[in-house]
Amino acid sequence: MKTQVAIIGAGPSGLLLGQLLHKAGISNVVLERQNPSYVLGRIRAGVLEQGMVDLLRKAGVGERMDAEGLVHEGFEIVSGGKRVHINLKELTGGQSVMVYGQTEVTRDLMKARSEANLPSYYEVSDVALNDLDSDSPWVAFEQGGISHRLDCDYVAGCDGFHGVSRQAIPSTVLKIFEREYSFGWLGVLADTPPVNEELVYAAHPRGFALCSLRSPTRTRYYVQVDASEKVEDWSDERFWEELKARLPQDLAESLVTGPSIEKSIAPLRSFVAEPMQHGRLFLVGDAAHIVPPTGAKGLNLAASDVSTLFDILVEVYQQGRTDLISQYSPICLRRVWKAERFSWWMTSMLHNFPDQDAFSQRIRETELDYFANSEAGKRCIAENYVGLPYEKVS
Ligand code: APR
Ligand code: PHB
Repeated sequence: MKTQVAIIGAGPSGLLLGQLLHKAGISNVVLERQNPSYVLGRIRAGVLEQGMVDLLRKAGVGERMDAEGLVHEGFEIVSGGKRVHINLKELTGGQSVMVYGQTEVTRDLMKARSEANLPSYYEVSDVALNDLDSDSPWVAFEQGGISHRLDCDYVAGCDGFHGVSRQAIPSTVLKIFEREYSFGWLGVLADTPPVNEELVYAAHPRGFALCSLRSPTRTRYYVQVDASEKVEDWSDERFWEELKARLPQDLAESLVTGPSIEKSIAPLRSFVAEPMQHGRLFLVGDAAHIVPPTGAKGLNLAASDVSTLFDILVEVYQQGRTDLISQYSPICLRRVWKAERFSWWMTSMLHNFPDQDAFSQRIRETELDYFANSEAGKRCIAENYVGLPYEKVS
């Protein structure tokens, strides 16, 4: 089997890249370890920056997002018990974000791929990347007990944090930058009306809480919990009580509770692998970097990587610009690090750090108080939240 670009992983990165390449006449094959329903069963974030919204439209998969997604022109931060509005539109010269779940993005991309009859292999195992330093790399994999060989020009490693692609870069070349946090987010999905039209990020002495949503009838709420907590110890009742305890009184009183549809604990991590390109392999999305979810940047960073790689591959195939290949990693990493910084900073400012000394605690509270109540501070938050510009490939 032969293709131009072998794509490892059918998450949003792999599927979006595949769709864009297909539209530009560049052939690609997607290899995915799980089955499609497993991929769609993962509940992830749901805030899309304008850049990602535009990219989905460019890929021809924006129709349902435009019909069902919710445009948010602002969000709230709770600082010292007070609700502060961050007016994204006013603070950024007219920009906004789109609330549309990653699951729905993935569903739309899967549908487009199958309607276009593009080759995808699900439930594959033993994926191995070969000869990445040569002009003719190839990917070995198994499906249903049969061994396959996929010859290609380039490999896009879109296989997430636990994938194999990153490991194909020699350890002498790969540099890892990492920070772990001592807490995670306990998340609940419920078919209840949102407590507030906009997202609410609440700092509280009991720990951080986030009120988010998927639609006017489906909500997603989170509370900060210690990394050692077990989801089995959190009944729905206990979750709702804890969430209410961390919200200002007016929100707590109007919160509508209900049975959870999904409940899980996600650890928080900051992670960057450099470089993001080696020979004919490109790392894309979670395969190269992880951010804590506080800035809603994970999915959006995957989209900006995809955009950069797509622009480069189009130039390579249409203009012979192979010189651009070495530009992929530096272009992506400049934006990745800015999102890493913002996500780390929002996390540091909004969460409880039980091990912090009293002085650091006060500094953290004061930093939030300052940024949430200064015009310049709010503009800084808003500019990063709507997403920094994509760098042009040239
Ligand atoms: N072979 C084939 N597929 C693999 C392999 C492998 N060895 N290892 C992992 N995969 C698949 C996973 O099953 C998954 O479907 O790769 C896919 C990676 O998808 P994601 O983890 O969703 O990563 P990505 O597509 O980069 O999506 C961006 O940013 O912050 C996050 O929530 C956000 O998940 C989103 C991500
Ligand atoms: C979510 O809706 O799941 C969500 C929203 C905003 C975040 C993180 C998660 O910052």
